[in-house]
Amino acid sequence: MSEVNDLKNKKLVIGDDVFVPFLTEEQIQNRIKELAEQISQDYKEKIPIFIGVLNGAFIFLADLIKNVTIDCELDFFKLSSYGDSKISSGKVRLLKELNCDVNGRDIIIVEDIVDSGLSIKYIEEIFSKHNPKSIRVCSLLMKPESLKYDIKIDYIGFKIPNKFVIGFGLDYAQKYRNLKSIYALTD
Ligand code: IMP
Ligand code: MG
Repeated sequence: MSEVNDLKNKKLVIGDDVFVPFLTEEQIQNRIKELAEQISQDYKEKIPIFIGVLNGAFIFLADLIKNVTIDCELDFFKLSSYGDSKISSGKVRLLKELNCDVNGRDIIIVEDIVDSGLSIKYIEEIFSKHNPKSIRVCSLLMKPESLKYDIKIDYIGFKIPNKFVIGFGLDYAQKYRNLKSIYALTD
């Protein structure tokens, strides 16, 4: 894992960067249960398609649908926006298309984190062309101070300050997605 992993202080030192514990596994799992309960209520009598944005959302989405109690379907698609950087490139590319037909369906886009909102705006534009019955967005995290685009997030796990975070699906240069909890970069 990291070059130095200070387990005693629970710090994660990655090169010159120091990450500290930010959300525990328990906090994350408890909140996911609440979100799943809310979604199960809201989509009673419906069969939504959860559409995960790869790669970051896969862990969140897996835990989310395990707690959903209604019938649902699942698909993924892939965008690239960050490259290996901690700062958004401001550009988004589609790398993997959907396999399912969203025409007339209730879809729930699932993200790991909404930062500027560019990815969600781009995704919503793509999906609206395919005539879904409804589109909602569910994100584990969002950074309200960073939001630059006019988008609506219907289900938010945690609103967080403008800090770079890793773990629970979120990467830094493709690593650390496997951490069970979330760590934040210190200033
Ligand atoms: P946006 O398009 O600016 O809203 O950025 C959203 C995407 O950037 C997310 O799907 C993440 O993949 C990535 N991202 C944004 N903030 C972070 C972070 O703090 N850590 C890791 N990835 C992030
Ligand atoms: Mg992502």
